[in-house]
Amino acid sequence: MDILKGHKSKIFAAVFIAIIGVGFGVIPYFSVAAIINNLVAKNANLNNYYPYIFAVFVGFLASILFHEISTIISHNLAYRIIEDKRKLLADKLSKISMGEVERKSSGQWSQFMVETLDKMEKPIAHVIPEVIANIFIPIVLIITIFIMDWRIGIANLLTIPLGLLFSMLMMRGYEEKSKRYQEAAKAMNTTMVEYVNGIKVIKAFNKSASSFGKFRKTVEENKNAMLDWYLSVCFSMTATMETIPSTMVFVLPASLYFFMKGSVEVGTLITCILLSYASYKPLIKAMSHMETIANIKVVFEEIKKIMEIPNLKRGEEVRDIKSYDVEFKDVTFAYEESKNVLNNISFKANENELTAIVGNSGSGKSTITKLIAGFWNVSNGEILIGKTNLNELPLKQNMELVSYVSQENFLFNKTILENLKMAKEDASMDEIKEACEKASCYNFIKGLPNGYETIVGKGGANLSGGEKQRIAIARCFLKNSPIVLLDEATAYSDPDNESVIQQSIDKLIKDKTVIMVAHRLSTIVNANKIIVVDNGEIVEEGSHKQLLELNGRYKKMWDAYTESKEIEVI
Ligand SMILES: Nc1ncnc2c1ncn2[C@@H]1O[C@H](COP(=O)(O)OP(=O)(O)OP(=O)(O)O)[C@@H](O)[C@H]1O
Ligand SMILES: [Mg+2]
Repeated sequence: MDILKGHKSKIFAAVFIAIIGVGFGVIPYFSVAAIINNLVAKNANLNNYYPYIFAVFVGFLASILFHEISTIISHNLAYRIIEDKRKLLADKLSKISMGEVERKSSGQWSQFMVETLDKMEKPIAHVIPEVIANIFIPIVLIITIFIMDWRIGIANLLTIPLGLLFSMLMMRGYEEKSKRYQEAAKAMNTTMVEYVNGIKVIKAFNKSASSFGKFRKTVEENKNAMLDWYLSVCFSMTATMETIPSTMVFVLPASLYFFMKGSVEVGTLITCILLSYASYKPLIKAMSHMETIANIKVVFEEIKKIMEIPNLKRGEEVRDIKSYDVEFKDVTFAYEESKNVLNNISFKANENELTAIVGNSGSGKSTITKLIAGFWNVSNGEILIGKTNLNELPLKQNMELVSYVSQENFLFNKTILENLKMAKEDASMDEIKEACEKASCYNFIKGLPNGYETIVGKGGANLSGGEKQRIAIARCFLKNSPIVLLDEATAYSDPDNESVIQQSIDKLIKDKTVIMVAHRLSTIVNANKIIVVDNGEIVEEGSHKQLLELNGRYKKMWDAYTESKEIEVI
């Protein structure tokens, strides 16, 4: 199996040591049988018994010891496998397109990578030693009975067909029922996430009763599905579990009968009964691990599926980039096939200039910035940085060249300082201070009781939208990459801050290519170039003055904007 790659020596060690443990584990049975045989033979010399008693202890202790060692190795193995898989998945996420990442919500990703993988620890760690012990010991015992007396050996197997019959009963409609149960669990999970995520909206619109009703229904269905499933299998499950180990029912009368007939010695009789008694319980225990193995398989199938997602196709070699103009040449892009979000877009954002993108909501502005940031590959056409096609750059170089402040700024639930240092790990405090001052967030950070050490909360929840945005801009200053993408960077800022950020952005432009998406048109009147996007197409392009003179789409937007500003002032 692919999942065990690179761990073969550990697996081998765990299996080998578990088998040694099993070897020791069967010694006590034979020793006890030998003691009973001696007793039956009326052997009264105590010295004859000591080696057997010693063997019982040694066998017992050594089997525990080896079982423990095997378990320790397999725990170690389990933690390593999980660590490996987590690293592999995290690395994979950075290599596939955002579209693939977004197929699962962030909650689903983290649930899979944290909780689901965590649940794998116990099964992986316990399956090897326990399955081996619980299968091998019974097999050795069953074979021994056969060797001693094949007729008792057969009697010892007679409960198996009966047990199988019950287990067939148990499996009747199993798939259907387990499907219903799984679907109910999935539905409950989805409504639960929806309910918790949407709790703000639910409260704001007073929808708690109906939303809660939906949630309650799925919880009830989950209970019903589980209960139905349990009630339908409980009889046959108990019957299977109890029938198979009840070997005494056949072994006892059979061996007594052969004993009476004189074809079995009393020693064989007692040994067989003893071994038969010990032989089946462990098998049942091993059977209970089968479900665990099936669960491990499901999770590893899922991992395999993720690993098979094709990587975003990018060049391998770092390119020498001489200039940092960003040029779109006939770029067409669709998130989902057949629905183009960008159509034949062509424009050039020059180095040392501010290029602004404006347009209605949903027109494709953010999409343009995300393509430059390397989240997706274009469907048709090309994006050039300098003279190099973006697709030829390794993703890592792409990320180094571009700083991206998105509409939804995400901060990690760490301190402000740690969030800032994500842009430059070895940044000095002076550098950090300078970046914060430029992004006009220095004062607000200083004003916090814990300053830079303030924990920002999950996703930055303890900060306001504007504060998060300014920290994201400070990150941009720290990263100091030649291309800067700002998606609605001033959207949350108050007018005072807006002008400060405006000055910061002016500073940024000096030796950078800045592309800025803006709703507040006042922030881009000085842009070197304004691109007006509508429905995935560029409809106008020019400076603020040129576009006003054109008296077209931009002029309309500007008029509407200034009107709304006046209303704001009133
Ligand atoms: N991940 C995605 N998967 C599928 N469709 C998407 C995705 N992201 C955006 N879209 C769609 O692409 C179109 C353009 O979206 P985009 O975010 O670029 O618009 P925008 O101009 O930035 O809008 P806004 O001003 O509201 O931020 C929209 O119709 C949107 O629904
Ligand atoms: Mg947008």
